[in-house]
Amino acid sequence: MKKIATCLAFTAFGLLSAGASFAQTPAPKDQLYKAFGEKPGLVALMDDFMVRLLDDPRTGPHFKPANQQRVKEQLVEQLCALSGGPCVYKGADMKSSHANLEIRKSDFHALVEVLQESMDAKGIPFRKQNEMLALLAPMNRDIITPPEGAARP
Ligand code: HEM
Repeated sequence: MKKIATCLAFTAFGLLSAGASFAQTPAPKDQLYKAFGEKPGLVALMDDFMVRLLDDPRTGPHFKPANQQRVKEQLVEQLCALSGGPCVYKGADMKSSHANLEIRKSDFHALVEVLQESMDAKGIPFRKQNEMLALLAPMNRDIITPPEGAARP
C-alpha cells in the first residue's frame, strides 16, 4: 500500500513538474515581429508613420529637412531587430543621430502618439503596440536633449 502511495506521489510530482516546465516555455522570440506583419508590415507601418509625422505640426518641422527615406529604412531595421526579427540595425546610434536636434520631452511624446495612430491604422493589437512601445521608451534618454546646463547622462 505504501509502495502504491509513493508511486502515485512520484507520478503526481512528475506531471506537475512537466506542467510547470510547459508553462515556463518562453514565447518564440519573433512573436512581436510576426504580430507587426514581419518586414512588409514594418515597411507599410513606417510609410504611414512618416506621412503622419510630416503632417503633424509638432513633429513635421523636425522631419521635413531630414532624409525621410533613410529614416524610414533605418526605423524598419531597428524595429525588426527589436521585435526579434532577422535584422541587424546598422544605422547611427540614438545619441549621435539625435544630437543637436533639440528634441524636447513633448516632441518625444508627440512622436509616440503619432506612432500609436499608425499602429491603430494598421490594426496592430493594443497589447502588441504596448510591447513595442516598452522597447522604444528607454531610448528617450539618448534622444531628448537635456535642458541647458544639465549633463547628458
Ligand atoms: C523611440 C523614439 C525614436 C526612435 C526609435 C528613433 C529612431 C531614429 C532612427 C533609426 C533614425 C535614423 C538614424 C540614421 O540615419 O542612421 C532617426 C533619425 C532621426 N530622428 Fe529619430 N527616433 C526617435 C525619436 C525621435 C523624435 C522624438 C524626433 C523628433 C521629434 C526624431 C527626429 C529624428 C530626425 C529629424 C532624424 C534624422 C536626422 C538626420 O537627418 O540626420 N526622432 N531616428
